Amino acid sequence: MYDNIQVIRYMGNKNRLLDFIIPEIINITDPGDCICDLMAGTASVGYALKSRNRILSNDVQEYSYYISKALIENNDFVISSESGLQDLQKRYNENLYNKHYGFFANTYTDTYFSGEQCLQIDSIRYAIEFIENEYVKSLYLSALMGAMTKAQSSPGHFAQFMPKENDRIKQLRAMDVWQGFIEKCEDFANIVSNEYENKAYCLDYKELIRLPDIADVKCFYLDSPYSAEQYSRFYHILETVSKYDNPSVSYKAKYRDDRFFSKFCYTKSALDEFEEIISFAKSNGSCLVISYSNRGVVDIGDIVTVAEKYYEKLDLKSLEYDHSTQGKGNKQILEHLVILV
Ligand SMILES: C[S@@+](CC[C@H](N)C(=O)[O-])C[C@H]1O[C@@H](n2cnc3c(N)ncnc32)[C@H](O)[C@@H]1O
Repeated sequence: MYDNIQVIRYMGNKNRLLDFIIPEIINITDPGDCICDLMAGTASVGYALKSRNRILSNDVQEYSYYISKALIENNDFVISSESGLQDLQKRYNENLYNKHYGFFANTYTDTYFSGEQCLQIDSIRYAIEFIENEYVKSLYLSALMGAMTKAQSSPGHFAQFMPKENDRIKQLRAMDVWQGFIEKCEDFANIVSNEYENKAYCLDYKELIRLPDIADVKCFYLDSPYSAEQYSRFYHILETVSKYDNPSVSYKAKYRDDRFFSKFCYTKSALDEFEEIISFAKSNGSCLVISYSNRGVVDIGDIVTVAEKYYEKLDLKSLEYDHSTQGKGNKQILEHLVILV
């Protein structure tokens, strides 16, 4: 029912929960109001509201920034399979032979991808580097990340790769990343645009809330990590293909050494993080809508207790939800929405 493009497979993405979340945000805002998605991930919530509102979209990870730039900030550009072939095929072929870009082939061969798939990733990324328009570049990067999360030999994230003996390896390693990428470009052939100056940011929320633009925000949406799993570990490969900065990597799984550690992932610090955002939103004169689950590192009751210190009007809604646990099957969880007005 709401506008929705699933760019990548992503832990905790809200694509399937839009019917639960969006009506609540619509209830407490007016058309044209500025809404800020503080930790946007795949930008699913901002995108679903874009036809109605001005959207500010933030995340500390750079791969997410490119998705927000493509889907949220961008009001003028689209790509397609045809444009992908036209814009990129020549440079792609050039890199297949000359290997100007080779970080993936040198670092990740026979881990998350085969050597051939790695060279395809390097070559697509090489070709994208020549795209001058920042929105078109972000669209192609989003399509590349989509193709990579489809072909990856790992259980829906990049915290570890499948052993050689895994039954699915053969089929995954046979996937052509270039073909998958060209097909994925077509998902971005129609993008919702609006009349507003939307903006994508790539900041820790602590820095974002200091920006002057934030004074305009009528409603914040907060969808923080809820488990102990760091997104920077689960999606280090997407960060690297976005930055393409030849990082130093460690451990068997070859994580980037400069990973961001979110305080929302630790029981001892998560509640203080919530309090910082709740008190800020109140002082900014804004509403705040928080997504959280009953499997989080803090109890929803504790978040509600903190919220009541600042807001008089509080609503708590809950939904039973069949949640994919990225490789570990499906679990029934309770998805909560705390609405502070
Ligand atoms: C549950 S996911 C958001 C999912 C998103 N709503 C979607 O539909 O795809 C949580 C996000 O919080 C981001 N994050 C974690 N700590 C952060 C911080 N301190 N500042 C900004 N973003 C942060 C992570 O990078 C991750 O993308």
